[in-house]
Amino acid sequence: MSFKNKVVIVTGASSGIGAATAIAFSKEGARVTIVGRNQEKLRYVSEQCSAVGSKPLVITADVTNDEDLKKIVHGTIKHFGKLDVLVNNAGIFSIDKILSENVVDSFDKVIATNLRSAVYLTHLAAPHLIETKGNIVNVSSIVGKRVTIENCFAYHTSKAGLDHFTKCVALELAPKGVRVNSVNPGFVRTDIMQVLGVKKEAQEDFWDSMTKTSPLGKVADSEEIADLILFIASDKGRSITGSSFVSDNGAILVPHLGNIELQA
Ligand SMILES: NC(=O)c1ccc[n+]([C@@H]2O[C@H](COP(=O)([O-])OP(=O)(O)OC[C@H]3O[C@@H](n4cnc5c(N)ncnc54)[C@H](OP(=O)(O)O)[C@@H]3O)[C@@H](O)[C@H]2O)c1
Repeated sequence: MSFKNKVVIVTGASSGIGAATAIAFSKEGARVTIVGRNQEKLRYVSEQCSAVGSKPLVITADVTNDEDLKKIVHGTIKHFGKLDVLVNNAGIFSIDKILSENVVDSFDKVIATNLRSAVYLTHLAAPHLIETKGNIVNVSSIVGKRVTIENCFAYHTSKAGLDHFTKCVALELAPKGVRVNSVNPGFVRTDIMQVLGVKKEAQEDFWDSMTKTSPLGKVADSEEIADLILFIASDKGRSITGSSFVSDNGAILVPHLGNIELQA
């Protein structure tokens, strides 16, 4: 799966799935733009990319800011001269109930981060991807396919929207030779709960509970999701578009995964 001379943007590359994806692309010879807000974490990922491949372009950006999104695409084209693959991975989890106070503020933040950013970045990147006959991989979730856990309707809704967006844009861009797909992970042990401000003990309870409930008795590593992203983005996936790929240890098959009341 060589990505030699390919240029790849990975959003949310400072941590978890995005970091593993950026490192995996670097290892396969790609020139990578890594995007996030946390400069210290980006520096660490940059070092890891450099250790296995070439030095990435680091762009500090907030994906909820339109000017920052322009900076990601323009900066990449200026630095590398083209774009072959866009991975819309940046995302946040959120705990929401429709009866909660400030629910709309929380909903807006989740949609801006998980869905609107992918829409605008895709709009900005598409002309460049048409030139290279490139492709897009959106990092969705099993929650886009099924309501799996309670008390996080904004997150579920953002990922369901991302799945439909993936299919609509795949149809629009197919005649121009651009493929658009999603990966839909189940539970992957990353910083996602820590970022939410969930206490360490509650985080451990969450991962334990998801491990026990999972049919394969485990949660996934970020590297496994990265492998799947690379396969879809590579020439091996050349006939795949408008598809979504679940990697979830069978979690989607479980009738009731739990009622999560994580105390932040
Ligand atoms: N972990 C799971 O169980 C799981 C399951 C299914 C799907 N997913 C999806 O996988 C993706 C990656 O999540 P993860 O689990 O790897 O979580 P993570 O370790 O918390 O990483 C999230 C990444 O998104 C970035 N990000 C968040 N808000 C941002 C913003 N406003 N602007 C720029 N970057 C932003 C973070 O960067 P900074 O903090 O540096 O800004 C970080 O690099 C998300 O879309 C998530 O919904 C995760």
